[in-house]
Amino acid sequence: MVEDDDIIGSIMVGYDGHRGWVNYLACHTLHRRRGVATSLMTEASKILAARGCPKINLQVRAGNDAAVKFYESIGYVAEEVSSLGLRLVDDQFGQQEVTSP
Ligand SMILES: CC(C)(COP(=O)(O)OP(=O)(O)OC[C@H]1O[C@@H](n2cnc3c(N)ncnc32)[C@H](O)[C@@H]1OP(=O)(O)O)[C@@H](O)C(=O)NCCC(=O)NCCS
Repeated sequence: MVEDDDIIGSIMVGYDGHRGWVNYLACHTLHRRRGVATSLMTEASKILAARGCPKINLQVRAGNDAAVKFYESIGYVAEEVSSLGLRLVDDQFGQQEVTSP
């Protein structure tokens, strides 16, 4: 989202044919609590619904309480799922070893 030539919000949305996924939702610190993220999520929902997507999933890092409160404010609810991951390449800070399955 751009305002006066400044990027004030961002979002990445995908649809894998089963669920819609949201990543990298963020609002510029100087523009928070003005509905920027809500607008981005509303637009994302419309785009996904128009493609027949029945449900949106997203993940929030443990401890990011502000993000959880935000998502709850627009109707999202925590679900009983376990999130698993496997890193295939080193991260940008070199703090993780490449793991073999
Ligand atoms: C989470 C984030 C995207 C919210 O963006 P935002 O544009 O400020 O959100 P909105 O203005 O649309 O907020 C809508 C509602 O969400 C809730 N909310 C938003 N930020 C909140 C916070 N820090 N604490 C508690 N509730 C919050 C409020 O109910 C708010 O309504 P209100 O302002 O009328 O009280 C923003 O804080 C951010 O960019 N955080 C860093 C990146 C991040 O964590 N992204 C999520 C990754 S999963």
